[in-house]
Amino acid sequence: MKLLDIAPALEVVRGVVMEIEDCAYPLVKECVVTADAEEAFKDADYAILLGSMPRKEGMDRKDLLKANVGIFKAQALAIDKVARKTIKIVVVGNPANTNAKVLQHFAPSINPEQFSALTRLDQNRATSLLARKMQVSADTVRNVIIWGNHSNTQYPDASMATCGGTKLSISKDFLEQEFVKTVSMRGSAVIAARKLSSAMSAAKAVCDHVRDWHFGTKPNEFVSMAVVSDGSYNVPKGLMFSFPVSIIDGKWKVVPNIVLNEFSLQKISATTSELQNEERDAFLHVK
Ligand code: LMR
Repeated sequence: MKLLDIAPALEVVRGVVMEIEDCAYPLVKECVVTADAEEAFKDADYAILLGSMPRKEGMDRKDLLKANVGIFKAQALAIDKVARKTIKIVVVGNPANTNAKVLQHFAPSINPEQFSALTRLDQNRATSLLARKMQVSADTVRNVIIWGNHSNTQYPDASMATCGGTKLSISKDFLEQEFVKTVSMRGSAVIAARKLSSAMSAAKAVCDHVRDWHFGTKPNEFVSMAVVSDGSYNVPKGLMFSFPVSIIDGKWKVVPNIVLNEFSLQKISATTSELQNEERDAFLHVK
């Protein structure tokens, strides 16, 4: 039997704990380092599931899904057993939407609406790109939507976006071509440049996601998160799909009545199909 040397990993974790302590966050009382899922999730109010099995060179998509089903099933069983029933969960590890669906499936005592996958990173990327294009500050750009999967079939949609309260004056051609392509491929572009997956921007997006879920969205503003579909916009019920949501008292609601043109409908249909296939293939490995 080959034993893995986990000493280097433990050293890194020790460094991370030291940095968390050194941030002097007022709500941090204690950091517990554990590989025991039940100890980690005991009485948890929030869980951020960062890790997953990344696709390695030459790795088959089926093997990737199978490995992740195993990981997320184990976490789900622990969450179902020991976490607070009000826990809110954000899945970051890819394939994030499908991993969140697997997690939800194996934690049946938790309301499905309390599971989510992170698409705020895509929303922030889209917002920043629009702000740079218009040469304005990113905080003046609101209501950019990410529909669907956190993959390159996602649909970044600026049709409802505003800048300083007014509609954007950016060409349809840019919004349908370069904007969609740049945002949806940004994760791969960061990996190509850094030789590592996004880290700081992903951490910021998780903070934004959890803060808005906890404190709510501002009037007339919405954010995007992948949540269990309630059938809105003809997305099949139960699919873990990124929608524009408004949040009040810790509960999200899909923003209704957004008018979708032919281009948007096609993009939403493509990302829906990808998610359905991914989910079907993942559940082939469920025992
Ligand atoms: C990202 O969007 O930056 C990541 O999801 C990319 C990845 O595959 O880790």
